[in-house]
Amino acid sequence: MDPVKPAVVREQNHLGGKFVAILKICQKINSERDLTALLDLIAVEATKLMEADRATIFLLDQEKHELWSKVALGSEEILRFDSGVGIAGAVVKTGQLINVEDVHRDARFYPAIDTRTRYHTQSLLAVPLRNFEGQTIGAFEVLNKKSGAFTGEDEEILKALAAQATVAIETAQVVGEMARRREQLMQENAQLWREVEGRFSAQNILGNDAKIQSVMKMIKQISDTSVNVLITGESGTGKELVAKAIHYNSPRTRRPFVALNCAALPENLVESELFGIEKGVATGVERRIGKFEMAHGGTLLLDEIGDLSLTAQSKILRVLQERVIERVGGRKAIPVDVRILAATNKDLEEGIKKGSFREDLYYRLKVIHIRMPPLREMREDIPLLANHFLANSCREMDRKPMSLAPQALSSLANYPWPGNVRELENEIKRLVVTVRRKTITEEDLSEAIRSASRASPPQNPTQEPSLKGKAFTWSLQGFIKKIRP
Ligand SMILES: Nc1ncnc2c1ncn2[C@@H]1O[C@H](COP(=O)(O)OP(=O)(O)OP(=O)(O)O)[C@@H](O)[C@H]1O
Ligand SMILES: [Mg+2]
Repeated sequence: MDPVKPAVVREQNHLGGKFVAILKICQKINSERDLTALLDLIAVEATKLMEADRATIFLLDQEKHELWSKVALGSEEILRFDSGVGIAGAVVKTGQLINVEDVHRDARFYPAIDTRTRYHTQSLLAVPLRNFEGQTIGAFEVLNKKSGAFTGEDEEILKALAAQATVAIETAQVVGEMARRREQLMQENAQLWREVEGRFSAQNILGNDAKIQSVMKMIKQISDTSVNVLITGESGTGKELVAKAIHYNSPRTRRPFVALNCAALPENLVESELFGIEKGVATGVERRIGKFEMAHGGTLLLDEIGDLSLTAQSKILRVLQERVIERVGGRKAIPVDVRILAATNKDLEEGIKKGSFREDLYYRLKVIHIRMPPLREMREDIPLLANHFLANSCREMDRKPMSLAPQALSSLANYPWPGNVRELENEIKRLVVTVRRKTITEEDLSEAIRSASRASPPQNPTQEPSLKGKAFTWSLQGFIKKIRP
């Protein structure tokens, strides 16, 4: 009988048992993504495996040059100290393992930690936590081996555990950071949506005039539907403003609002702009989606629709009827769910008579028809709008609040405004830039406005509507006289 063999077998069984235990720990470690739970888990398992009394993982805070760890297992309290002190500090600094049987005879020992944690350290084994790039991210300590000093085998086990722990800790840190950033982005996003919805809400359409009030009422009435809307009116009357208010007051608000300027669409690009194009249709062509697909789930504003060619009109009509599009060079029909708003300053019924606009498309677009009144038909609102634009421009241009002298306001209210609200807004912006005084007087106004005012002496802007109508006729006549050679 060989007396050596049973000892070898015992040794092999012992090592095999430890090996299996380490593998199990590694599996557990790699499936934990929460950093706090992970640190607890590693500490518990290391303690058991090496028959120690306690285990601590110190992580290095690079910015503050500090080591931190949890005070005790299961606790949330954090211990922080200078990364230059203690045995953990020495391990992080040198990147070398330290194994001491009696810490009280080791000058590197830092007793303040024991005082703080109300613990008595005797033996200690510490290894660095080194990541894939070779950086030390902390130290892993086991304390007070139950039977004397930590062995060479413990050293090997702790090194192996530390390697696994480092990967898991870094993953948990990245996952935690990503979760924090995601939360931050979601908050920012919600804030931005609140701003966008505020900026384009129906409340930004100003005016007490009955016509403008009925536009606002209509926007509210259709707010939970997806009906197509045709918005007509002269240039600068707020057609785009209304289109945005309709979108941002609808259930589609968090989906895209896409505007397509039909007037700026060259005939040969109509199809690819509207429906997109597949890669390789011509040399060097990359795949691109069109406006209909971009607006999927949301709203597409076909701006200046009166300028659309007949060919393009028939293509749009087909989409409105079939609710599918085909990309240029593509073979499959792609379903699209898009609410259509159309705007124009042209008379589409006149276009139908002349044959330049399709009647069937017209009726599809104008399920609801919103007519924007020209500014000269809502004179009473001119002071309100002018003061609003003045306050806005001063804020935007970082100027102290300014005001309009009564005479200046009367002249503004008296002018015919061929460019409508946009022209008024631009006039006010110009005044904020050019006038250095706090009060804007009549002399500061543009020559066209002043001459219209001279031709027809300003009326009180809050007078009765019948008189207002006259004031406009007079001022327009004066204006026409002025510009005639
Ligand atoms: N009722 C209103 N209240 C406040 N601002 C308005 C109003 N109407 C128009 N505006 C402002 O006037 C400017 C012009 O409006 P918008 O671009 O919507 O006009 P539009 O009818 O689309 O003009 P165009 O036909 O030239 O494209 C914008 O800055 C808009 O915010
Ligand atoms: Mg517009």
